[in-house]
Amino acid sequence: MAPPGTEEHPIRVAIIGAGPAGFYAADQILKDPATHAQVDLFDRLPTPYGLVRGGVAPDHPKIKSVTRVYDKTAAKEGFRFFGNVEIGRDLEVEDFERHYHAIIYAFGAEADRELGIPGEHLPGSHAATSFVGWYNAHPDYADRDFELDRVRRAVVIGNGNVAMDVARMLALDHDELRQTDIADHAIEVLETSTVEEIVILGRRGPAQAAYTNPEIREMGELEAADVVVDPAEAELDPASRAWIESEDADKTAIKNVEIVNGFAARKPEGRPRRVTLRFLASPVEIRGDDRVSSVVIGHNELVDDDGTLRARDTGEREELACELVLRSVGYTGIPLPGVAFDERRGTILNRDGRVLESHNGGHRTGHYTAGWIKRGPSGVIGTNKKCASETVDHLLTDTGNGALLEPAEPEPAAIEGLLADRGVDFVTFGGWQAIDRAEVGRGEPHGRPRVKFVRVGEMLEAAAGDAADEPGPE
Ligand SMILES: Cc1cc2nc3c(=O)[nH]c(=O)nc-3n(C[C@H](O)[C@H](O)[C@H](O)COP(=O)(O)OP(=O)(O)OC[C@H]3O[C@@H](n4cnc5c(N)ncnc54)[C@H](O)[C@@H]3O)c2cc1C
Ligand SMILES: NC(=O)c1ccc[n+]([C@@H]2O[C@H](COP(=O)([O-])OP(=O)(O)OC[C@H]3O[C@@H](n4cnc5c(N)ncnc54)[C@H](OP(=O)(O)O)[C@@H]3O)[C@@H](O)[C@H]2O)c1
Repeated sequence: MAPPGTEEHPIRVAIIGAGPAGFYAADQILKDPATHAQVDLFDRLPTPYGLVRGGVAPDHPKIKSVTRVYDKTAAKEGFRFFGNVEIGRDLEVEDFERHYHAIIYAFGAEADRELGIPGEHLPGSHAATSFVGWYNAHPDYADRDFELDRVRRAVVIGNGNVAMDVARMLALDHDELRQTDIADHAIEVLETSTVEEIVILGRRGPAQAAYTNPEIREMGELEAADVVVDPAEAELDPASRAWIESEDADKTAIKNVEIVNGFAARKPEGRPRRVTLRFLASPVEIRGDDRVSSVVIGHNELVDDDGTLRARDTGEREELACELVLRSVGYTGIPLPGVAFDERRGTILNRDGRVLESHNGGHRTGHYTAGWIKRGPSGVIGTNKKCASETVDHLLTDTGNGALLEPAEPEPAAIEGLLADRGVDFVTFGGWQAIDRAEVGRGEPHGRPRVKFVRVGEMLEAAAGDAADEPGPE
């Protein structure tokens, strides 16, 4: 038989996770001129695009137009989508090994990092992951209750772009939100919101914030909220000042400091809500009897730790009353049974995208990874292109060297047969396009880009509606 990668014997690759990393990896493989390949892209949801659909804020629609690039990939010969198929539930690693020459894990980092402080799990204290999923109509979070009608002050913990997103969603004008693709249930609840103040706690100073310039600038442009910064907290400590004024400082940090200084110089203009930025402030305890009633804040100073300015507790405390806490201190990956995991980093154990057998082991033949589950939960959508490209380069090199899996059942129909035997109601790309059309159609009368389905059952129903005109496997 000809070696895998030729016209008679194309390599069959399974990619698990249809977020940016999965789509970029699929594209890189399918466009390689020297390799004949077929790619099956799996996702546990009936809908593709990962955090582009379920993470990116509803009031940032332009960013979501990146999905047009992914649609071009999906239209390529050799590409198939299998939505509503979860690895670890419907298919196991061994099933993929039986059907594919290579597997790329690109299933993102869906869990939230914990703070490890008392009271973290009191009712009223939520991970940003669940709030984000809820307003973006992710089926896993549809039934969460944030009780916004009993909240006057919300505290957002963290100084990254996700913290900016969730704070902004609490502060935005409802008329503006109603024009977006935000989940219907979220609009209804946000309209009853009694939130007056959103306090964002950064454990370090304005020079160390993880957010980027447009996202912090937007805080000062909200119709419905004033932005408030205490000039004393905007003031940089000597070490941060020296760094910001040095040639080492990055442009984003310099601009972030400038923007926050601008906010500190402002007077509130009587808008109905306010967003208060606090710095050098860590939560040390979340208090309440049966639900959150306050956060105890520890005041920090910055100390040089091998060239990095880190937060150190000064011992000074302050108690801030609040009824809602959103913890936005980063995401983390979920281990997949049977695949070596790096617990410290929350990623699949890998070297530049090649999955390892164990911490000191070599490459596990045929297994690769890309995106957040490869490198950790940071980076914007475009970062995953370079990341996927590195992984695919290795995969193609290994193809050339004949170092892939030798699947027992490589025929494209075999995996469909297995899914049918297991009663898995998988969604093809045509099925997704039917869901898409239905959602867009639901939005049109209201001048909205789409009204998203929230329940998996509704999505499957909409996908099945297309089955009649479906030409078969793509
Ligand atoms: C709240 C939020 C907002 C963001 N906003 C922006 C922004 O505005 N602009 C920007 O550039 N970047 C933004 N980012 C970053 C960007 O979304 C990420 O860089 C990118 O989505 C990571 O891509 P990924 O493919 O690794 O993971 P993901 O996008 O998370 O995709 C992973 C996919 O795997 C699927 N999956 C998970 N487990 C399984 C399983 N067991 N079996 C099968 N499938 C599975 C998931 O359903 C998902 O579709 C944001 C991130 C977050 C968290
Ligand atoms: N519009 C956009 O482009 C957009 C929108 C959303 C997300 N994203 C991207 O998605 C990625 C993930 O964003 P993210 O906001 O989840 O993560 P992030 O950028 O890593 O920010 C995490 C924040 O949490 C803080 N933190 C961590 N542990 C803490 C603790 N124990 N106590 C208090 N604070 C703590 C960090 O502070 P330290 O710095 O002190 O550790 C940091 O400010 C980022 O790359 C982001 O840029 C982009």
